[in-house]
Amino acid sequence: MPTQKKSPPKHIAIIMDGNGRWAKSRGLQRWEGHQAGAESVKAVTEGCIEAKVEYLTLYAFSNENWNRPKDEVDALMKLLERFLKKKSKELKENNIRLQAIGNLQDLSPGALKALEKTIEETQDNTALTLILALSYGAREEIVHGVKGVLSDINDGKLDPSKIDTEKFSEYLYTARTPDPDLLIRTSGEKRLSNFLLWQISYAELFISDKLWPDFSKEDLLEAIEDFSDRERRYGEV
Ligand code: FPP
Repeated sequence: MPTQKKSPPKHIAIIMDGNGRWAKSRGLQRWEGHQAGAESVKAVTEGCIEAKVEYLTLYAFSNENWNRPKDEVDALMKLLERFLKKKSKELKENNIRLQAIGNLQDLSPGALKALEKTIEETQDNTALTLILALSYGAREEIVHGVKGVLSDINDGKLDPSKIDTEKFSEYLYTARTPDPDLLIRTSGEKRLSNFLLWQISYAELFISDKLWPDFSKEDLLEAIEDFSDRERRYGEV
């Protein structure tokens, strides 16, 4: 009997790691590694559309990243702004809807404006939802969710006896988004780095040794293939 392939993941989350090492190995500046990393973003969004993945969440800037040297933080903000301005047309042409999660108000004014504009212009697109995690930290997101719950209880909008995991999920930045089925991290590191800690409870993990700027569409398709070959049991037998 032919073996049946499982469906592709509905939602892939990626910790894009290794831009700095990629640059260093070529004698380049760190920001040049981030710039090269932006090209891999294009490759994986194409791969997701090809494989009919519906959601892609990318860890583009963590809360901890604010502690990097000012030059690097400025370069990342500029890169984000340029990426959004330059790719906005491509996102529209490829029917990609852009969304973002995190403390977006902390972004540079230019990056925030470009982000809000692109989110608005792409809101009705349907081929893929691309979610950028920016100034994001999972623990902060959970605390933010708890505050939302308390505020709704205080206002009489939420009955405490109605709180369960599903209800609490509605108070996270990712409300209305299915949980990731597959989490990919590049550069061989095996850490979660405060990324989507609540949402990845049942996600399959795929660690790639490739540095993020070297991660190609083919690498993404290989990770999807690997996922589809696995048996997911959610703790059952
Ligand atoms: C980790 O590499 C990567 C980041 C901190 C930033 C991710 C940003 C991009 C891929 C580019 C821009 C993305 C968009 C959406 C415009 P690292 O610097 O920690 O690498 P290292 O561990 O080798 O030093």
